[in-house]
Amino acid sequence: MPGLIPERFIDELLSRVDIVDVVQQRVPLKRAGREWTACCPFHDERTPSFTVSPAKQFYHCFGCGAHGSAIRFLMDYDRLEFPDAVEELAQAVGVTVPHEGGPARPREDRTDLYALLDGAATFYQDQLPKSEAARAYCKKRGLDKDIVQRFRIGWAPGGWDAVKRALGTSDARVKMLEQAGMLSTGDKGKYDRFRERLMFPIMDRRGRVIAFGGRILEGDGPKYLNSPETPLFHKGRELFALWQVRQANTKLERLIVVEGYMDVVSLHQAGVAQAVATLGTATTGEHAELLFRTAPDVYFCFDGDRAGRSAAWRALESVLPRMRDGRQAFFLFLPEGEDPDSLVRKEGSAGFEARLRQATPLSEYFYGFLSHDVNVATLDGRARLAEHAKPLLAKLPDGAFRDLMYAELEKRTGVQTAPAMPVRLPSASPGTPRRTLVRSAIAMLLAQPALAQEVTLPYAFAELDKPGIPLLAELLDFLQARPGVNTAMLLEHFAGREESAALQKLALTEFPGEPETLRTEFLDALRKLAEQTTQQRLDALIRKQSEGALDANDKNELRELLARKANPNPA
Ligand code: UTP
Ligand code: MN
Repeated sequence: MPGLIPERFIDELLSRVDIVDVVQQRVPLKRAGREWTACCPFHDERTPSFTVSPAKQFYHCFGCGAHGSAIRFLMDYDRLEFPDAVEELAQAVGVTVPHEGGPARPREDRTDLYALLDGAATFYQDQLPKSEAARAYCKKRGLDKDIVQRFRIGWAPGGWDAVKRALGTSDARVKMLEQAGMLSTGDKGKYDRFRERLMFPIMDRRGRVIAFGGRILEGDGPKYLNSPETPLFHKGRELFALWQVRQANTKLERLIVVEGYMDVVSLHQAGVAQAVATLGTATTGEHAELLFRTAPDVYFCFDGDRAGRSAAWRALESVLPRMRDGRQAFFLFLPEGEDPDSLVRKEGSAGFEARLRQATPLSEYFYGFLSHDVNVATLDGRARLAEHAKPLLAKLPDGAFRDLMYAELEKRTGVQTAPAMPVRLPSASPGTPRRTLVRSAIAMLLAQPALAQEVTLPYAFAELDKPGIPLLAELLDFLQARPGVNTAMLLEHFAGREESAALQKLALTEFPGEPETLRTEFLDALRKLAEQTTQQRLDALIRKQSEGALDANDKNELRELLARKANPNPA
């Protein structure tokens, strides 16, 4: 929701940015007549159905229906919250986002939550040199000063309330600490969640601290304790060290996904600066999407044990639907008892790189795994393999990779498995609503918002009892109050409203002629609507007359309307 950022600022911002630039920086666009097109970044496809309109300043995908303004694009593509998307755009054009209202508002709260967690990270960092045990542990694990700094590794001291005392200096701040997942609640009230642990801050893609992982040095308790899910932290969506990876690499060709904090940190220290980790969870679809948006090649490293193998298969399942052409996934299984941290320390980055070069490509891992417990020498075995493979292959997006995977199955089983032809939507979908005069008028207004300036109040059609009339009036009001608003801004304003989807659809209507033709058609439509209004009122009065119920005012009105009908163009 726009929340505290004034709407006028949003308008101004959207009038300054060009959506073509915003999209082009992330998705290569090709010119196609008045518009730009690309393969849709929001779903998998081989032929482009994603279009960006410079005139309307919005994007639309005819395949999956994704659409919106430059702000919406950033929210969906860069996965930013609304205020962050606005911030990002504002920075790009060099303007400052004004915020209205006092500090008690929700938007401010969030900012404060980030500041608070940053403060906690700094607090832990400051504690590290003060703890003999922590320093010794870092030394034992071979962490150098530079890496401790780059990852902002720190120390949560013992006791029960070090953080609470240092940062919870008011009731409001204690509440925020709780919200940020920094406190636990017990018999004796609230106390620090993290105590006597080596602290790894987890940052979001903009480098802000959103959570922590803490490693116990020894003794009882879980080896790693993580922040709970909070308004800022959803572990299924975050990757540890993605920020550091982006900082260290201007152009990213690959990402290496490992399981642990220490694995990431060690790899970075050894110069393998593309390592990230999921946060004690299996690789989710959201992770897979984020990984591939960041780099075309993704290497998954797993322990060679049973748990590692099942985690690897789950990772494969999460990437299958995202294996668009140009993307590659590899699987690296480590020797028993080793993890990337131990290996890179033993073999150095050269040794680790050599292992990466030997990693198993997805296709090979896929067929190896599925063939593992079937005997492909027999007909039955080959049939089983095909049976297991098919539903998985069906998840692959349209493309050469998918074709090759099917060809491979055919080769291995002899079973004819031509992929089902992708369903192409007919150009006029059955759900296309009827064209009415009101809809046409709205569509024209959306195509050329400046037309609103041609209409004067009171609207002659305002009393017409037909669906869409109040919306048309509202659109005109809005556009008259804000001349200069373009299509995307208009849609943005109505986002979240019930009518939003209908408006989005209507905004796609093409009016190929000259602007002047559109103007004539628009005014003509409004005139017809005005005539219908007159007729509707007339019908009502005539009905009343037949019931003998006309009063003096009605009689006057009826006379006037009949006169107007006889001479429709007095103006
Ligand atoms: P591991 O147990 O493999 O630890 O957990 P590690 O990464 O090798 O850690 P070190 O080298 O002993 O320090 C792998 C990852 O699983 C999550 C953490 O993200 C950890 O880095 N994990 C593990 C937890 O969240 N909680 C735990 O208790 C253990
Ligand atoms: Mn380890």
